[in-house]
Amino acid sequence: MFTEENLKKIETLKARYPNTKSLTLPALWMAQEQFGWVSEASMKYISVLLNIPYNHVYGVASFYTMYNKKPVGKFHIQVCTNISCQLLGSEKLVVHLCKKLDVSKGEISKDGNFTVSEVECLGSCGTAPAMQINDDYFENLTLEKIDDIISKLK
Ligand code: FES
Repeated sequence: MFTEENLKKIETLKARYPNTKSLTLPALWMAQEQFGWVSEASMKYISVLLNIPYNHVYGVASFYTMYNKKPVGKFHIQVCTNISCQLLGSEKLVVHLCKKLDVSKGEISKDGNFTVSEVECLGSCGTAPAMQINDDYFENLTLEKIDDIISKLK
């Protein structure tokens, strides 16, 4: 299921970690990078590959919000709605994004390009409100800034 390259990475990592259970986070990350999300099949595969209980893999994947438990659009827009961002209007940003992109929260837009999700603290509270699009951070957001960012994505 993993590419040859990812299987080699797993073997390399095995030498660096005390046991295969410690590889759960990087293995889940590899699955998400390879498939775009972490499916139940991926979690079962990782469980067998690392010879660790499925419940452990599932527990780790479900704890961390950065693992997508269902497919997402080409651009996964994750808006922090934790306290600092919420106080500075992040919920309005989510509503604006969903309306602008014609997509419901957590769903994929009809063109397959966008998913808008609410997430917990992105660790960028001092520059709230903040969001992440795929691997890139955007901070001190306003409705105007969001419109500009989105126009450059298309
Ligand atoms: S509360 Fe939004 S980045 Fe921390």
